[in-house]
Amino acid sequence: MMAGQKSKILIFGATGYLGKYMVKASVSMGHPTYAFVRPLNPQPDDSPKLQLHREFESMGVTVFQGELDDHEALVAAIKHADIVISVLAIPQHLEQYKIINAIKDAGNVQRFVPSEFGQEVDRVRGLPPFQNVLENKKKIRRATEEAGICYTYISANSFAAYFVDYLLHPHEKCEELTVYGTGEAKAVLNYEEDVAAYTIKSANDQRAANRVIIYRPPGNIVSQLDLIAAWEKKTGRTIKRNHIPEAEIIKLSETLPHPDNIPVGVLHNIFVKGDQMSFDLTEDDLEASKLYPDYKYTSVDELLDISLTNPHNPKRASFA
Ligand SMILES: NC(=O)c1ccc[n+]([C@@H]2O[C@H](COP(=O)([O-])OP(=O)(O)OC[C@H]3O[C@@H](n4cnc5c(N)ncnc54)[C@H](OP(=O)(O)O)[C@@H]3O)[C@@H](O)[C@H]2O)c1
Repeated sequence: MMAGQKSKILIFGATGYLGKYMVKASVSMGHPTYAFVRPLNPQPDDSPKLQLHREFESMGVTVFQGELDDHEALVAAIKHADIVISVLAIPQHLEQYKIINAIKDAGNVQRFVPSEFGQEVDRVRGLPPFQNVLENKKKIRRATEEAGICYTYISANSFAAYFVDYLLHPHEKCEELTVYGTGEAKAVLNYEEDVAAYTIKSANDQRAANRVIIYRPPGNIVSQLDLIAAWEKKTGRTIKRNHIPEAEIIKLSETLPHPDNIPVGVLHNIFVKGDQMSFDLTEDDLEASKLYPDYKYTSVDELLDISLTNPHNPKRASFA
């Protein structure tokens, strides 16, 4: 890449929940942006998928249509990119072996960011259904390292708009809310727009080459009880807390069928066990808000203000 030139970024999973944020962040930071998407079957003109493809193209994104099984198509798309970011969904995590093989064959990629965007998988442990998800992310880490591909692993912790919506139901004006466990465990809730922006920044950052980055901005560390108390203050309502005991959550994770048992394992790990804050960061760790102190992230408190005026999940509303 020539000095002063913006890196070219290829995104897998661009049409997904986080993927749309990633595309928007990449484009808004001036990167030539490419999306590798599944081929569209004939669709009605007003289908959301078709509209999204058009939206990407109107933003200047080059869309490659292809299957992950088509090695030649993967290599051809990857040859356009300096950086490959995968935002594929959980069931597709092991499909990323195919991306790794194509990156090896293409030979031009300077950074790979595999689809993680959650816990620091090498430092936490979940109930079995969630641990399986963590194990797959670890397998992709190890395969990336074995292939000698320069990587950045993103531990984004929890998506804030998603979990504010899930825990507080801002649009329903609830008088009662469910609390998982005691509600005291601290979690880290990062707004999706910031998750994407930090990812684009770190994928371009030499300090993040072959490193894990943890997103733990101080304004985003909250427990469920903190969240509900803050929400009561902002809405002026009194909210009853209905606790689900930990033993009941563990039982559900053992009895629900796959994949319904995964979200239970996730809730347990984040909000009951408090794994996102279960380890201290050392001098050697890279933390996003410290790496990018000039970037103004949206704190949980600010997100609650947004939810107050726009109770429908602001992440969706924010994607123009
Ligand atoms: N930390 C958190 O709070 C949190 C929350 C949610 C997710 N995550 C993580 O974020 C990452 C992205 O998750 P997400 O919720 O954004 O994913 P998603 O919206 O469910 O899907 C992402 C992408 O996967 C693609 N995809 C689905 N099935 C496919 C297939 N068979 N072949 C090829 N592509 C396929 C989808 O393409 P189509 O549009 O064509 O279907 C979509 O673009 C994951 O690693 C997940 O673990 C973290």
